[in-house]
Amino acid sequence: MLAPAFARLPHPNPTADEVRAAAIADPVFGRVFTDHMVSIRYSDAKGWHDAQVMPRGPLLLDPATAVLHYAQEIFEGLKAYRLDDGSMALFRVEANAARFNASARRMAMAEIPEELFIGAVKAAVEADADWFPPVAGGALYLRPFMYASEVFLGVKPASEYHFLVIVSPVGNYFKSGAPAVSLWVSEHYTRAAPGGTGAAKCGGNYAASLIAQQEAIAKGHDQVVFLDAAEHRWIEELGGMNMFFVFDDGSIVTPPLTGTILPGITRDAIITLARDAGLTVREEPYSIDQWQADAESGRLTESFACGTAAVVTPVGKVTRGQTSFTIGAGGPGQVTTTLKDKLVGIQRGLAPDPHGWVTRL
Ligand code: PLP
Ligand code: COI
Repeated sequence: MLAPAFARLPHPNPTADEVRAAAIADPVFGRVFTDHMVSIRYSDAKGWHDAQVMPRGPLLLDPATAVLHYAQEIFEGLKAYRLDDGSMALFRVEANAARFNASARRMAMAEIPEELFIGAVKAAVEADADWFPPVAGGALYLRPFMYASEVFLGVKPASEYHFLVIVSPVGNYFKSGAPAVSLWVSEHYTRAAPGGTGAAKCGGNYAASLIAQQEAIAKGHDQVVFLDAAEHRWIEELGGMNMFFVFDDGSIVTPPLTGTILPGITRDAIITLARDAGLTVREEPYSIDQWQADAESGRLTESFACGTAAVVTPVGKVTRGQTSFTIGAGGPGQVTTTLKDKLVGIQRGLAPDPHGWVTRL
């Protein structure tokens, strides 16, 4: 089927220049939104149709819309950057399109043609290209998502879906300004079980993780570490980031993709950049007990988390129950900083892009 062309409906009353400038001067992650959104409809009967770039606004939902009852919803997160030469760029948008469809398959939802997903993301950036925040780490955070829009209370995969892209100008994810984050290990709650939806980017995974994140915040930490559901022993990931561990022999470990963690696109980029730099990267299980023992013995020198929103974030301190341990000197380590600089250099067009990750707009 041919992908539908986008109808363009410009905002009749766009945000005034001075209001926009104030909104993007120091945006809190996920609180500021641009003037437009992309909307595309799907039905089993008509396929993908009604593609529009339109003024951003509320959705009108029938109370029996399937997503409100059975949570058939998936999303993606990626960033657009303004480069020094004034052009705009997307980082690994093809990978986001592929992961979106992998999530759709797991949630028994309609898959969107990858070129339509990519076209929608590009159209969203182009509609609001004057919203890039002029701050360190500034970008447009793009949130493609899709929900079951069929009005029906039967428990079955919906026959109608609504795909949208909304755009949020962002600065740094962590507002604390601390050089490294503090983590709380959830020894009670788990995020995903074998055979479940852990590898899909579905809203339900985040719903299930919030109580653990709430516990972490209440105890004064930035993020929660999830352990595996079967043994409560193996480190999986954070609420919204993948984990890496750096050892004194220069090698790096990250948990393997066994179906219970999100296959992060930043994770994949970091593995590639580390191997490019001659480092050994092992994708293998790493236990919470070993993490503590290695941090205390000095065998482990650094740990960091990574994801689109948070980029590369050093871990300074970890707390489990009544005990805490410090990672290295408690601040950003050298390997973490080097890998972050390599990644950001490519994303921002400051370094060569040997893997073809950047799409210029
Ligand atoms: N893990 C979870 C649970 C996430 O929500 C994210 C964020 O997207 C990541 C990992 C990192 O994935 P990516 O690097 O593709 O943003
Ligand atoms: C991202 O990094 O894109 C995420 O999805 C993390 C969080 C904002 C959910």
